[in-house]
Amino acid sequence: MNVSIIVFSPSGHTLKAAEIIRESLVNKDNKSRLLNFTKRTDLLYGDSIAENLSKELGSYDLLFIGGPLYAGHVEHNVLKIIESLPLPDKEHSCLAVPFVTYGGVHSSIALEEMSRHLRNKGYKSILGIKIAAEHSLTKTYSKVIYKNKPGDEEKVIIEKGVSKALLIAEKQGNKAKDQYKAFKYAPAKERAMFRAFSQEKFHKDFKNVSVIEDNCIRCQKCIKVCPVDMFAFEDEKIIMQRDKDNCILCAECFHNCPAGAIFHPYIAKAKERLKDGNAGLESPASAIYPET
Ligand SMILES: Cc1cc2nc3c(=O)[nH]c(=O)nc-3n(C[C@H](O)[C@H](O)[C@H](O)COP(=O)(O)O)c2cc1C
Repeated sequence: MNVSIIVFSPSGHTLKAAEIIRESLVNKDNKSRLLNFTKRTDLLYGDSIAENLSKELGSYDLLFIGGPLYAGHVEHNVLKIIESLPLPDKEHSCLAVPFVTYGGVHSSIALEEMSRHLRNKGYKSILGIKIAAEHSLTKTYSKVIYKNKPGDEEKVIIEKGVSKALLIAEKQGNKAKDQYKAFKYAPAKERAMFRAFSQEKFHKDFKNVSVIEDNCIRCQKCIKVCPVDMFAFEDEKIIMQRDKDNCILCAECFHNCPAGAIFHPYIAKAKERLKDGNAGLESPASAIYPET
């Protein structure tokens, strides 16, 4: 089979999962292409996303699409990419597998909303995978949630998901069932809350990340690590070059700045929300849906 994988991964954990998917596909004698659109301004901004995406994607018999979970939702750039996918046709199969990595707290409606967006484009989600990963906001907290995940345990689940998806695609082809109903696994109250509060609503008041000029040593690491191209170097200083709403609060700038020059208000808020890394965790940590 010819399988494409698309991934967005600000802190690298979803990319790790995508690489396990690719390795697993290749080990089973399939052809696989991985498109990582993190830091890809041509696939994040402007009016030509669909055109650029279509040029890079080529044809596929099966599509995996993955991203991180932010505030109970899949990070919204992933939904934007789904909206820009080519419509299914002879070159592009309608069979898709959404996957998310999350910090173990709640995966909520992420797979559900990915499948809804896929369905709107004419794709069927033949299964979905949620994968426990290090909680990227807890790096500096007294407890790092799921440090170093995804690891061996998650690899087993991912490989099982790949085998299952290949079997469905080979045996059932376009007649395979859209399994979106199986993604409504979170408690009804939680699903209702996250449906009412978008990622933007949760994060809106914290999107004022900025550079503390007096601390900045102009190393430009923030420019290199930002997944959505917020920073630029101009007139010998770091500037915020895009509207603040484009910041996704991933905290890569904060964690990688060697000079403590990034003001990131969400780190402190999340520390409170996540009980300094001691928040309760979802069970099962990782799973394939439907579960049977
Ligand atoms: C702004 C932000 C919000 C997050 N919200 C959640 C959440 O609601 N629930 C959860 O379990 N993990 C949450 N996480 C953790 C990420 O989903 C997890 O670390 C994921 O693996 C990151 O993927 P990446 O390394 O590919 O960027 C959040 C992380 C960030 C940066």
